[in-house]
Amino acid sequence: MNKKNLLIYFITFSFTLIGYSQKKYTSFKPGTLWLDNNDKHINAHGGGILIYNNTYYWFGEHKTSGSTGNKAMVGVGVYSSTDLYNWKDEGIALKVINDTTSMLQKGSIIERPKVIYNKKTDKFVMWFHHELKDQGYTAALTGVAVADDITGPYKYINSFRLHAGILPLNFSKKEFEAAEIIQDRKDENWKEKVIKGAYFKKDFEVGQMSRDMTLFVDDDETAYHITASENNQTLHISKLADDYLSVTNEYIRVFPGGRNEAPAIFKKDGKYYMFSSGLTGWKPNPGKSAVADDIMGEWKSLGNPCIGTEKEEATTFWSQSTYVIPVIGKKDAFIFMGDRWTPKNAIDGRYIWLPVEFENNKPVLKWQSEWDLNFFNNN
Ligand code: GAL
Repeated sequence: MNKKNLLIYFITFSFTLIGYSQKKYTSFKPGTLWLDNNDKHINAHGGGILIYNNTYYWFGEHKTSGSTGNKAMVGVGVYSSTDLYNWKDEGIALKVINDTTSMLQKGSIIERPKVIYNKKTDKFVMWFHHELKDQGYTAALTGVAVADDITGPYKYINSFRLHAGILPLNFSKKEFEAAEIIQDRKDENWKEKVIKGAYFKKDFEVGQMSRDMTLFVDDDETAYHITASENNQTLHISKLADDYLSVTNEYIRVFPGGRNEAPAIFKKDGKYYMFSSGLTGWKPNPGKSAVADDIMGEWKSLGNPCIGTEKEEATTFWSQSTYVIPVIGKKDAFIFMGDRWTPKNAIDGRYIWLPVEFENNKPVLKWQSEWDLNFFNNN
């Protein structure tokens, strides 16, 4: 290479480096536009993270613009990152099916997809909340898809209600028999009846409802499906089968009548923690937290984890929980992942990621307008 070429080469290289370093994020700025490697706002709402080969994979609802924005017109998107700040668009992991006879047809509702890796089968398994096309939220199904490669394509298996004809571990036959079925909240004393299993009994034969959901894989590789059931009034936690493709009959009711949505679970020092929300649709509400020594119960409420202004505490910093990320290589470092929904233009929905702090053995969240992973070294 002659001197002139060398100089041109050097200048081009330097500009590339400058361009790259300028674009590169080195911190989180919750609630702001978050651009991917193509300079597009990340499109992975109601998401979850799978850590695989020291890389984070972020799966989420791929929203579209316009009136159909909250429906699944495309599918489930996936992004990858090694530092949690900079994300590469890896495409659509699970595509909606262009066939009106398929349950997964375009225009159905796919929400809160979560992916886990099964070491025994060497497969990636996705579960998601699934509603059938043009049926609102009445189907209340959970769906499953599977892939050989982490970014897909995921092959759709099925969507279904859960545990038809099966009683949970913490609800006796006697309690079941005593429960009085009600259809809705117009019933007098509905709340008390719901706690005692009114909606549970209503759906006993057809299977239990499943709406907002998440997955959790324990240290021993046992996986769990956690979902808002019984008309969103009661959470159900189910142990998954060894291949993660179905649920076992082992499940429990958690916080009957507690009205929890948006569950997200993490484990610290042998204890299980849960963030969740109340029920106000796309609008935010006060967050909730809970702890258990055993994921299969007893869960104990720890109250609103948010510490801030009245408005921040009443709205979870204007967000709703979706997942908690354990940071690779940092002990006890967890990130709360929430959605700031914008239903009128769903694609613009923002992400509220905050460090999980612990005070008096309780997980708490405080607002940070900008922060980075060094936060965990200093706290
Ligand atoms: C929320 C739920 C979202 C979505 C929305 C629809 O309560 O957490 O995932 O289902 O309702 O209104």
